[in-house]
Amino acid sequence: MRRLLLLFSTVLFGLSATAKETYLYIEKFTDFEIGHSFKVYDVKGTEIKSATATVQYAPGSTANKCLFVKTGTTPGYVELDIPDGLTGTKVTKSYDRIYMQLRYESGNTAAKGTNLKVLYGSTESFSGASGLNEAGKFVGQNYTTKSVSSFKKTVRIGLEAKNAEYYIDNVRYVNVYGYDINDETQTARYWADKLGKNIGCCISPNQISGSGRSVETFYKNFNMLVGENAMKMDATEPGNNSFNFSQGDQIVNFAKAHNMKVRGHTLCWHSQIPGWIGESNSGSNPKGWTKKQLMDILKNHITKTVQHYAFNVVEWDVVNETLSDGQSGNGYNLRDNSIWVKVIGREFIDSAFVWARRAADAVGDYNVKLYLNDYNVDSWNGGKTKAMYNLAVEMKKKGIPIDGIGMQTHTNIGYDLAGVETAVRKFQEAGLNCIFTEIDVKASNTASGLKTQAQKYEGIAEFVCKYDISPTMVVWGIDDNHSWIDDHETSVPLMFDPDMHAKQAYLSVVDMFKKYAEAAEAAAEVDDIEFDEDGLQKVEEKVDVYTLTGQKMASGIDRSEVDALPSGLYIVGGRKVYVK
Ligand code: G3I
Repeated sequence: MRRLLLLFSTVLFGLSATAKETYLYIEKFTDFEIGHSFKVYDVKGTEIKSATATVQYAPGSTANKCLFVKTGTTPGYVELDIPDGLTGTKVTKSYDRIYMQLRYESGNTAAKGTNLKVLYGSTESFSGASGLNEAGKFVGQNYTTKSVSSFKKTVRIGLEAKNAEYYIDNVRYVNVYGYDINDETQTARYWADKLGKNIGCCISPNQISGSGRSVETFYKNFNMLVGENAMKMDATEPGNNSFNFSQGDQIVNFAKAHNMKVRGHTLCWHSQIPGWIGESNSGSNPKGWTKKQLMDILKNHITKTVQHYAFNVVEWDVVNETLSDGQSGNGYNLRDNSIWVKVIGREFIDSAFVWARRAADAVGDYNVKLYLNDYNVDSWNGGKTKAMYNLAVEMKKKGIPIDGIGMQTHTNIGYDLAGVETAVRKFQEAGLNCIFTEIDVKASNTASGLKTQAQKYEGIAEFVCKYDISPTMVVWGIDDNHSWIDDHETSVPLMFDPDMHAKQAYLSVVDMFKKYAEAAEAAAEVDDIEFDEDGLQKVEEKVDVYTLTGQKMASGIDRSEVDALPSGLYIVGGRKVYVK
């Protein structure tokens, strides 16, 4: 029985808002009657009966309710309920700031310049300058709170002020990162995992030691890692047949600890070759290697490296950047500033893949995938893409064990999504995977630049969602401060800013994976559609088609036309139908 499957994103998908603070309100006091009172406690948790905290209108207002606090000889802290469903972690790790507005009047300046305290029971989460230094107006600001373990269902707030009168309003928890990293459903990893797709990031060993937001971001937002430099030849074979896999091992161990995959980069490249072999980025052969000697060196390197990382690396960039920058448009040209090209010639590419496959198979790692990786192989309409296609297809036709190509995707806001999708489909038709291995999208650090940048990241994520042959997207850096790009401060190419705030690019990728994962989940309930012996469905021939939200897409069309609709999820003839 054939299942006619439609996948449709019924959600009208706007770009996520630029990354900005997200709030959980504690109290605006609007729901209380004037005169409603709250209890006040001292710093040790004893109620202070003499102090008062009552809901009043703000000075000069007959509409804006706020809290009016009066203390005596002991500073008092007002007890407010925490919004339901909050936990200690959520309150003080995810929402790691608290915001409120404070005010005093010139008639009582005891509150001026005093410290604010935020307490859970008697445990301090904040104690420091309130910032309240001017009479007659509300001062509102964020206060960075310390995480607390002994979490109470109430929070206590007040100024360290005696015999004071002051106002509190608009108290809220604040997450400055634009999303809650501790809510897995807000991470790209969560939805990519549901889709069985890889969302990765390059990393260096010095970035995974210790704790902190960026380390959390690696393993909570991504499910794949790749060594930015750790598995290159100069790192893994610093001496002739003298290997040092320690850097890559650190990445593999971190990935294992966080149930992440690792992709290997790269077994053979003209750059970052160790000095004992020759000069990087040069076709020279200062050591005078013969072709056979260099073949043996490369074979030994690939064999030992693939077998060392067997079962811990799921895919390798076997050969990286072998195409020259200039291409005629027919066939392909190899770069000449490469010792591999100059001393061995074209056959090094095929041999590298055969050696990698044999090495992996020899130890039983039959699943590791082998990729040919390059830059400027993005749009079908430009760059080296057709040359990459010609080389990869030639290899495949010869029976070379190539699984696919990697589009490094070092690009900018001129990235041609339509042209790239044409290329993806060409590789699909050729039976080759096409993945995105080193993404960065240079943009201006402006609202419009970041919006366009987000559209490009979103578009790549959609390719990964839509095409089985595009299971992987990897960004080349965790945040805009960790990019190989010289002008990264201004071209802000990545998905997180230097303070690890999620940019629109990241939020758009999350939304894209979520959209497809939810549609796939919805379709999982799809009713099977019965077909008769001629393969026709046993339902009426003419059907109406609606989106899940009830929008009519087509009426009275032939049932046979349904699978010609754009991929999506529909209601067809009253039944939920999902086309892939
Ligand atoms: O390890 C040495 C260190 O010992 C020395 O003190 C230091 C100062 O010179 O250099 C360190 O090596 C640097 C290496 O990164 C490790 O940090 C090299 O100088 C530096 O050139 C190298 O840059 C890397 C570059 O590849 C090399 O071409 C970048 O980090 C890395 O992001 C970049 O990544 C490449 C991909 O592998 C292939 N695609 C293009 C992409 C961007 O160029």
